[in-house]
Amino acid sequence: MIRLGVIGYGGRINSMIKRFRLEESELRVAGIVDPDEKGARSRLDENDRKDAAFYPTVDEMVRKGGLDALAIGTRCDLHAPYAMEAARYDLPLFLEKPVATSLKQAQGLEKAFQKSRCEAAVSFPLRVSPLCRLAGNLIKEGAAGSPEHIAAVNYVPYGTCYFDLWYRDFKITQGLFFQKATHDFDYMSFLMGSDIVRVAAMANYGRVFGGRKPGGLTCSKCREQDTCLESPQNRKRNGYETGGWDKDHGCTFGRDCGSPETGMNEDCSSALVEFASGAHGVYTQVFFSRRDAAARGATVSGYHGTVGFDWYRNELKRVRHHAPFTDTIKADGGMSHFGGDDELARDFIGLIRGKCKSRTPIETGIRSVHVCLAAKESAETGRFVKVRRLC
Ligand SMILES: NC(=O)c1ccc[n+]([C@@H]2O[C@H](COP(=O)([O-])OP(=O)(O)OC[C@H]3O[C@@H](n4cnc5c(N)ncnc54)[C@H](O)[C@@H]3O)[C@@H](O)[C@H]2O)c1
Repeated sequence: MIRLGVIGYGGRINSMIKRFRLEESELRVAGIVDPDEKGARSRLDENDRKDAAFYPTVDEMVRKGGLDALAIGTRCDLHAPYAMEAARYDLPLFLEKPVATSLKQAQGLEKAFQKSRCEAAVSFPLRVSPLCRLAGNLIKEGAAGSPEHIAAVNYVPYGTCYFDLWYRDFKITQGLFFQKATHDFDYMSFLMGSDIVRVAAMANYGRVFGGRKPGGLTCSKCREQDTCLESPQNRKRNGYETGGWDKDHGCTFGRDCGSPETGMNEDCSSALVEFASGAHGVYTQVFFSRRDAAARGATVSGYHGTVGFDWYRNELKRVRHHAPFTDTIKADGGMSHFGGDDELARDFIGLIRGKCKSRTPIETGIRSVHVCLAAKESAETGRFVKVRRLC
């Protein structure tokens, strides 16, 4: 049996725990640290309801819980403080992304893990998803030659959640480079076999979402719900029913989204990135796209060929530049985070069992945070920014 201690038992970690259990049916949530006991209990699996004990601190949970591993599923701003604490206990750790949201947090995390034997599986499903691994293997085998360029896109078809759910709280997210691009910068480095060392970025704020509607406004209280394109009835009518966002929700055009002056999530943002290898690339993310506009993936090119894939189309294309052959490979669909969540679960259970190493160790999370910090600073200052390196 695996006894897991969970810090922040929210929606995301609950969905991952279901996957951990597919890998190890004898997994039990033995301890929880979460101030919202009622909410956390409502998410607990039937198997765990009897045994899971709530603790006021991580220290008490580790001392009394007889734990084999820890998982951190709080919101973004608490990942680093809890992970620094978790590093003291040397237990295998599942850690949600972004692993930090400030330079101070990132440096604290690096220091805490230098002294620790705690091995982390950072929640980067894209890096380990089968389609990305396949592209990575083809590139490693020389399908592109030396990879010289990458163009990665992320047209997010569910981007309103960053303006009508808790994600709109900029104090928690620090913007969508941390929230979203942290995954993409990570898998781009993986595909290119090289770290990102310099960034120039731009972001647009408050041109689509945000606005002057009063704080606390929801659609059910709004007189414009018949005409507003974001009301539940219009989202349904217009074929935008992804997830639960066709229910009553916070106003996407209101003060609660923040403002460019006080900080808010961006409508769209882009980064020009340079790799340690000397190659370069571009990444762009758009949060107001919908429906068939959805696209996420990358195209890697070298002198000998181009390898490109898209997770929404579940398709990879390999073009030989100097021979008359092009391969198109279709992947199975319908998997959570394109199959990456199952891979992460396999890694984490393997780590606990001592059967494998994490493919998303803490360094991947911290490196990606440093790229996000550079992108945020560059977007704010209009300058190229060097990415801090790990010590
Ligand atoms: N890796 C991915 O692909 C992926 C996908 C979705 C979400 N996420 C990340 O997962 C994280 C959680 O998102 P969510 O939607 O599950 O949020 P959530 O609000 O459902 O869960 C957060 C939980 O933390 C608890 N909490 C609040 N304060 C706490 C404290 N001081 N100590 C301990 N627990 C505390 C809350 O009560 C809640 O149960 C976010 O950072 C999000 O970015 C990652």
